[in-house]
Amino acid sequence: MDVNKIPLHVGLIMDGNGRWAKKRLMPRSYGHSAGMGAMIKIAEYAKARGVKYLTVYTLSTENLMRPKEELDGLYSLFRKYFTKNVQKLYSQGAGLKIIGDISVLPDDVRTLLENGEKNSPENCGFTLIFAINYGSRSELLRAVNLAVERGEKLDEKGLSALLYTDGMPDPDLIIRTGGEMRLSNFLCFQAAYSELYFTDVLFPDFDEKEFDKALEDYAKRERRYGKIK
Ligand code: IPE
Ligand code: IPE
Ligand code: MG
Repeated sequence: MDVNKIPLHVGLIMDGNGRWAKKRLMPRSYGHSAGMGAMIKIAEYAKARGVKYLTVYTLSTENLMRPKEELDGLYSLFRKYFTKNVQKLYSQGAGLKIIGDISVLPDDVRTLLENGEKNSPENCGFTLIFAINYGSRSELLRAVNLAVERGEKLDEKGLSALLYTDGMPDPDLIIRTGGEMRLSNFLCFQAAYSELYFTDVLFPDFDEKEFDKALEDYAKRERRYGKIK
């Protein structure tokens, strides 16, 4: 595949964990755990393919309304990742960033996430970005309120600088697994000119081969940004 056609930034909406577990007559937490495993593999593979930024939609602001039991299971997975797996990520020369409002998470989880970000190597060739308690609407509201407090009138650049994604390129490609064709509050401002790729594959089954299919599809797209070719 033409290396010039590898997306710099891929957004990944990791949907379908619950249905994957249900098909196996297992609790939803089993699906989330399998999803975490799939995410780790995809991050390694994306890096190997030359992607520079991978943003994984891990928890939306709306997901926080799910039952406590499910959220507790997800928090345990975050604990596991940010104690066990994060060192491996760093040792592979990859960095880590978090976008979203993590202030409302359990104290120990929040501390682990903050440390994960603090200890991340800088200026890496690859950054894995976790969107946790992330929602585009609350991200935009936060930015607007910050500007109002500062008495600032914003232009597009100024607004971008107040978003969690400050300093990152916009996503070139957004992949959503699990069959739904929507963004569900993920990077809505940043996705203005993103290419979208939807697949019915449930996230725990989304492997390197499926990721390649998305890259191949992306490589065929013609990005015009409103202009005439
Ligand atoms: C996505 O999988 C992961 C999170 C939202 C945390 P779901 O949990 O939404 O799985 P489905 O859509 O119910 O299958
Ligand atoms: C989107 O999936 C959020 C994540 C994958 C983290 P949802 O399952 O929450 O989205 P909806 O409810 O189907 O739109
Ligand atoms: Mg879902």
